[in-house]
Amino acid sequence: MASFAASPANVADIGVTGMAVMGSNLARNLARNGFKVAIHNRSVAKTEKVVDSYGSEGEFYPSESTADFVASLQKPRVAIIMVKAGGPTDAVIDELSELMEEGDIIVDAGNALFTDTRRREAALREKGLHFVGAGVSGGEEGALNGPSIMPGGTVESYDRLGPMFEKISAHVDGVPCCTHVGADGAGHFVKMVHNGIEYADMQVISEAYDLMTKALGKPAGEIGDVFAEWNKGDLESFLIEITAEVLHHTDATSGKPFVDVILDRAAQKGTGAWTVQTALDLGVPVTGIAEATFARSTSGSVPQREAARGVLPAETQDLKVLDEASFIDDLQKALYAAKLVSYSQGFDEIAAGAKQYGWDIDLGAMARIWRGGCIIRAKFLNRITEAYERNAALPLLLADEYFTAEITKCIPAWRRVVAFAAANGIPVPVFSSTLSYYDAVRADRLPAALVQAQRDFFGAHTYQRVDVEGTFHVEWSEDRRESKQD
Ligand code: 6PG
Repeated sequence: MASFAASPANVADIGVTGMAVMGSNLARNLARNGFKVAIHNRSVAKTEKVVDSYGSEGEFYPSESTADFVASLQKPRVAIIMVKAGGPTDAVIDELSELMEEGDIIVDAGNALFTDTRRREAALREKGLHFVGAGVSGGEEGALNGPSIMPGGTVESYDRLGPMFEKISAHVDGVPCCTHVGADGAGHFVKMVHNGIEYADMQVISEAYDLMTKALGKPAGEIGDVFAEWNKGDLESFLIEITAEVLHHTDATSGKPFVDVILDRAAQKGTGAWTVQTALDLGVPVTGIAEATFARSTSGSVPQREAARGVLPAETQDLKVLDEASFIDDLQKALYAAKLVSYSQGFDEIAAGAKQYGWDIDLGAMARIWRGGCIIRAKFLNRITEAYERNAALPLLLADEYFTAEITKCIPAWRRVVAFAAANGIPVPVFSSTLSYYDAVRADRLPAALVQAQRDFFGAHTYQRVDVEGTFHVEWSEDRRESKQD
């Protein structure tokens, strides 16, 4: 038996089921903002804990059973699911949908794969229910104090949900970090790409740290000072800020810099991989994100690393840093340039996803709702919004006048950093892959012409010519005559 009294029917503005940290923090955020919040958890102890510890923060309506939880909601009902992605989410959706009525709204605020969200949305639509996949970014802190929220689903469901979500989201310059992203899985799609960009940002920051460690022999604390300084300029962002904090932190047990006692194997829960897999399906080169995701895989390739360590030679040129200040300045510029490419690629993926799935996504608005609350929040996101305001159909973020000017200023430094790393055997997968992308996307001519010829040679895959319209094939094994195919 629960230690709380049964909640009345038809009272709560919104409900949250799943009282782990993210769910309870979201419920508390809603309650602190004046909403009447129904709460529920599979095991009642967690619901009790929220009531006992935070009951004074606002109006909570706890329930022990799912049926009571649903009954406590005002119609049309809004229930947010904050449970583990996959099977547990499906189980809760099934249970809720049995108890809900036409016009009610079920929100999945976890990190679900957008194709699952599309499937669930279609199934619930059949039953007359709205299903909203909402990306929520900002971790535990954000959920409590103001996350960035990316809701998909119908416009009708946003009319009911939007005002509540906008109120509890982070605000920047008085503007909420929440907007309706698009139909069905659009919200989770955008959150997925957000996480992919997060991977690229984190990796390239780590590459800059690695270069300062290996090339300058700087201790973690001093590198932390560099990041703290960078956080005052173009790179100002949450991830740079926490990097400085982490690097300044000392391990209590060993007295060593904290980062030096951490095993160098980065884990991943899958959203980076989803971003890359989806980009492959859509044919969008998100090379920075892909290399960042693979960098985590490389770090975790323990048998391979053990087989290689001390065996594979470096054969480096051992370039020395002659001027530390200009090396750090180069790194800052390279970091900014690599970051611009990662974002540009991420926005390409969102545009391609929108086209593929028929979503009307305002790219500038996506940058706007990422300015606060979320993990990739950064000063320069304002500039992305402005770029899409100048041209909503911008085919390449880097080709916007502001970003072209910005990246141009960084190129010599970026090249020096990548060349230095290569000469010294220091891995920089994001610095280098983003630079290669930059050089590829701006090239007058790519070696893809040769690839086409090779494909035609061994597989009669055909090609197009630079001088005449049409599709052609060469009879390679016969007289090498060219024939028009259409
Ligand atoms: C956020 C984060 C959040 C979480 C990631 C971490 O936006 O709040 O992205 O969703 O921290 O799932 O992902 P990995 O465990 O894969 O690094």
